Amino acid sequence: MSTVSQSDKLDEVRRAVDCLNAGARSVDQLMKSITLLLNEKMLKYNWVGFYMLEPGAQPPVLVLGHYQGAMTPHTRISLNQGICGAAASSGKTVVVDDVSKDSRYLACSLETRSEIVVPVFVHGEVAGELDIDSHFPAAFGGEDRGLVEYCAQVVGKRLETEWLAHK
Ligand code: SME
Repeated sequence: MSTVSQSDKLDEVRRAVDCLNAGARSVDQLMKSITLLLNEKMLKYNWVGFYMLEPGAQPPVLVLGHYQGAMTPHTRISLNQGICGAAASSGKTVVVDDVSKDSRYLACSLETRSEIVVPVFVHGEVAGELDIDSHFPAAFGGEDRGLVEYCAQVVGKRLETEWLAHK
């Protein structure tokens, strides 16, 4: 019996993201299918969702979009709140290995132990983010970060194309 290494698995998921991108009719459909794929294939990705900046909202607010996992009370998050707000306001990926030790953390489920939030950029500006929670501590290593950043990049590029088509 052959065992699949973590790198092979991540490569396989990346290729699956490319296929989803090629087959998706819209960025909305793509985002939904990415949440399904990551939640299903990556066993430690227990909650996977997109938060997008509400167009024109002042002050800016992140609004929950497609997600897989338990219902969250955090459907709207200001940029000065939570790990989500920190990632969107800094434009940087935030990885938290132990959420109980991070005072910014907004609890979504008692089971969550670690979290990664990756901004989605459109023409260099933050348009939203991909948020993943795990029931396992320090679930997001360098390779996971690479995969999640890749997904956010694919969505950002697709948003650029779609927005251009609507101009
Ligand atoms: N934990 C996030 C809130 C969103 S839930 O995880 C789904 C945060 O601290 O911003």
